[in-house]
Amino acid sequence: MKVVLLHGQKHHGSTWNTSQLLLKELVTNQDTFREFYVNDIPYCIGCYTCILKEEENCPHREITKEIIYFIEQADVIIVDSPNYCMGMTGQLKTFFDHMAYRWFSHRPLGNMQHKIGVAISTTAGMGAGSVTKQIKKQLFWWGIPRIYQLNATVAAANWNDVKPETKEKIAKKSKRIANKIRRKNGHVKRGFRQRVIFKLMGKMQKAGLSTPRDVAYWKEQGWI
Ligand SMILES: Cc1cc2nc3c(=O)[nH]c(=O)nc-3n(C[C@H](O)[C@H](O)[C@H](O)COP(=O)(O)O)c2cc1C
Repeated sequence: MKVVLLHGQKHHGSTWNTSQLLLKELVTNQDTFREFYVNDIPYCIGCYTCILKEEENCPHREITKEIIYFIEQADVIIVDSPNYCMGMTGQLKTFFDHMAYRWFSHRPLGNMQHKIGVAISTTAGMGAGSVTKQIKKQLFWWGIPRIYQLNATVAAANWNDVKPETKEKIAKKSKRIANKIRRKNGHVKRGFRQRVIFKLMGKMQKAGLSTPRDVAYWKEQGWI
């Protein structure tokens, strides 16, 4: 199994440690694992190069291309972020903005339909579920059919202050998710909503309602 982990923060706090609990259950030495911190990516400048022309010509491609390569190769894509003001970190959103061209409405990667995603977040009080939902939405629109959410209220500003029983609860949830991933790996497929969206997007492309680059891509893939 190929696993890639994107961290929406550089520090090793509660969110990073929650991801480690999942990795401990999920990744064995038979698996390949890569992780990236998305902190140093400049924000999207809205030039539309990726959507209208070629993603390779994005002014930040040199920084994002290795991450995107590993995402495209992976079976399991894990994304983590602490809750910052009821949302994912700005740096993670910045990375997601660089993936706009991979949304269903543009040039989705066909093999996303075989992948599994995991969205991870921790919060002091409330909102970790909102963050994992936001991450899940991004992965859904890339075309990933199965996305698990691992979120936790830790009532702390750092991992050392998190109560042992909370850590135990997170560990148990991680184990459950890891078992599900192992069972489902290689057997996921698009659900009803993604099938409908894919069909609608295909109609849109066929009618030439998208960019010429996107329409050409859908034709190249044999989808329209
Ligand atoms: C900038 C910032 C904004 C935050 N916003 C919230 C919030 O809206 N609600 C909340 O309950 N906790 C909030 N927190 C607390 C963190 O979400 C919480 O401590 C989380 O577990 C931190 O994860 P980390 O150790 O991986 O950074 C915020 C923390 C920071 C630094």
